[in-house]
Amino acid sequence: MAMVKPSLGNVMLRRSVRDFAQVLREALHAHQADDLDGAERLYREVLALRAAQPDAMHYLGVLCHQRGRSDEGVERIRAALKITPRHPDAHNNLGNIHKECGRPAEAEACYRRALECAPEHHNALGNLAVVLEVQERLDDAFDAYGALLRQAPEDARGHYLMGLFLRNHAEHMEHLEQSAECFRRAFELDRRNLRALEALGVALYALKRHDEARQVYRDWLSREPDNPVPRHMLAACGGAKAPPRAGDAYVRELFDGFADSFDEQLLKNLDYRAPQILTAALDAVLGTPAAALDVLDAGCGTGLCAPLVRPHARRLVGVDLSGGMVEKARIRGGYDVLEVAELTGYLQAHGDAFDVVLSADTLVYFGELQEALTAAHAALRPGGWVAFTLEAMDGDADRAELTPSGRYRHTRRYVERALAAAGFSHLHLAADNLRREAGQPVAGWVVLARRTAPLPTCPRGESA
Ligand SMILES: C[S@@+](CC[C@H](N)C(=O)[O-])C[C@H]1O[C@@H](n2cnc3c(N)ncnc32)[C@H](O)[C@@H]1O
Repeated sequence: MAMVKPSLGNVMLRRSVRDFAQVLREALHAHQADDLDGAERLYREVLALRAAQPDAMHYLGVLCHQRGRSDEGVERIRAALKITPRHPDAHNNLGNIHKECGRPAEAEACYRRALECAPEHHNALGNLAVVLEVQERLDDAFDAYGALLRQAPEDARGHYLMGLFLRNHAEHMEHLEQSAECFRRAFELDRRNLRALEALGVALYALKRHDEARQVYRDWLSREPDNPVPRHMLAACGGAKAPPRAGDAYVRELFDGFADSFDEQLLKNLDYRAPQILTAALDAVLGTPAAALDVLDAGCGTGLCAPLVRPHARRLVGVDLSGGMVEKARIRGGYDVLEVAELTGYLQAHGDAFDVVLSADTLVYFGELQEALTAAHAALRPGGWVAFTLEAMDGDADRAELTPSGRYRHTRRYVERALAAAGFSHLHLAADNLRREAGQPVAGWVVLARRTAPLPTCPRGESA
């Protein structure tokens, strides 16, 4: 994660007080090993021995945020900073909590304080650049990314972030060329940064350097024959047969690695609007929210749909294949139940259980929609609504295809046929832009359909 992990080197241990020092060491080890229960118990033990021990307060604050108690996390780090006001990691971690809770201006102030304390704090400088970008202060963000690269030319994250910035805000092909070079450099500097390699392949394809893009994935596959990401992306570039939907292992790998930066990358930089557009379309057919419906968010991700659909829900369930994304949704809150599961199987196992099944930007990982839509139909009660977004493919054909982004797109006719075959009626299908990619809008479909109700009631806005 973007947090500065607890590090024994950051902690000033007083050797004369062996017991407290030992417990703190154990707490930090447990935290580093992601044993959050053990770490929390041990930090509390330290604080019982030394009520104002700033490292225990700071890292317990980080841990509280990781466990979904962000307000408590902020309070604890603030209290630690009262004792050690020039601790750059504490300012940086406080900034990260604000950033992840959607408060970029507060986060910016924290990163600036971290940099006052330690001007060479690369992590804080990269984070500052990200929140400036999130606030659409693009010139300032570009300067901050540039400063990071000058300050730390061997920092792989800096090159990767600059590559994303150039790609997200590309106005010319030259920007895409530069972003590809940044991704290439990021991977050269850190061979574990497979996200940079994937981004390089996507950028090369966008530059119409198709053979080079396929070669990136082939080389990657030859090094890691079991890795689902190059396998899927090679198919996406036309170098292998496309699967009917993205494999579970690919989705898990992709989104577990993406979970920390998903909101800031999509929501702010790419004008990601699928949750807003989809829930607005649902509002139109459901009418005034009465908190009376059982709602499933299928492919809930970090939970961006939760606050938007919650007013309609008596019970809101979120399901996603990626444990990393579900963890973020847990921190965001708003769900009654969250499960790590494949959505088709989950729907098949929950017949007649929901009044609404919504799925924002998730069925774009499905080429073949029939099985999932049939399962959604069976999971809905009569009269219930399915609502989802897809990427749009032009033309009159009945077709779906895997695109070089790794996502699928569908024609209108394909969607209409699949919904009808699954048993749905009352189809609403509207074209809209779902996000921006490489500086261009991504065209999509916003789709609603109904499991036929036995009663002849006709909600507002519905068309046959
Ligand atoms: C682009 S994200 C969208 C998340 C969320 N709906 C939103 O709009 O912010 C797509 C999500 O779908 C999930 N996903 C993709 N295929 C899935 C499947 N077959 N079953 C469950 N989740 C899936 C991914 O793990 C990821 O979290």
